[in-house]
Amino acid sequence: MSRVVVAGSFNVDHVWHCGNLPRPGETLAGSYATGPGGKGFNQAVAAASAGATTTFICALGDDEGARLARRLAAAHGIDLRAQDADVATGTAGIFVDARGGNSIVIGPGANAALSQDFVAAQGKAIAAADVVLAQLESPVEAIVEALRLARANGAHTVLNPAPANAACSRELLAVAEVLTPNETEFASLLARHCGDSVDADALATMDGERLHRLCRTLLPRGTLVLTLGAAGCFVSHREDSLRGDGSAHYRCPAAEARTVDSTGAGDAFNGALAASLALSPAQPFSGHATFATRYAALSTEREGAAASMPNADEVAARYPGA
Ligand code: RIB
Ligand code: NA
Repeated sequence: MSRVVVAGSFNVDHVWHCGNLPRPGETLAGSYATGPGGKGFNQAVAAASAGATTTFICALGDDEGARLARRLAAAHGIDLRAQDADVATGTAGIFVDARGGNSIVIGPGANAALSQDFVAAQGKAIAAADVVLAQLESPVEAIVEALRLARANGAHTVLNPAPANAACSRELLAVAEVLTPNETEFASLLARHCGDSVDADALATMDGERLHRLCRTLLPRGTLVLTLGAAGCFVSHREDSLRGDGSAHYRCPAAEARTVDSTGAGDAFNGALAASLALSPAQPFSGHATFATRYAALSTEREGAAASMPNADEVAARYPGA
């Protein structure tokens, strides 16, 4: 059995497609749609769609959003473990521009209530997991608990330190075997934990040796996968733990995509990476990274967040060849 447990957020996404993202003081007309989102749920749907047996731990209100989460979890065969919160289910307001880029504001709502105790009560599911995946749209104590229990029971851990402004503690970094920041998140983690200031926009083209050294400073013990949007990703392993790869650092180019909406692309990457780690543990890490970049690229060809996650067959059909 290849089991992935995702701990994190569910949001009802309210999405406006507009030509350009609105500037301060500007009123624009756009087309509106609503659909399921939240980094946690998007990642759980990606893991399940990629073929892993998936459990999702979250907190929901008692409202239409919660019913949407339950309905969709069931439709995707996801084992939903939802803490009942006394506040509205999480929401997000998302603007998507003509090139598929976005700006997002979240209203955490119930997500902010996810407790360490509720996560601890899901210990059996966590102990049975091959991979536990989490992000930072939920309280940090709850996320630490999920990853700590995973490590204590021999499950692998993947931490997606998103969004960039979330507090990511040293304690949390210490339980992450694989850390998957994007450029902004990486720059802010380096500033916070290492006192290094780097320009997020320069990372995609930075010299590999230099980037690898920065990754090693931030996560000396684990593997860091820096996602670089249209530039793919950069993988940095500890020198004595290459996870089947031939070198300690390398770039993995992005797959070609006709992007209409990049919302949830990072989530697609993370869910697919976790699923691949669980499904093919013997595969070199570069194979997992390649699958995750392809999976994420294909998700950008569709509108929406959780609704845009492809299945493994669709990825193989779109990107034939190993
Ligand atoms: O990563 C994309 C997600 O971020 C959206 O679905 C939105 O809900 C926010 O959590
Ligand atoms: Na998408």
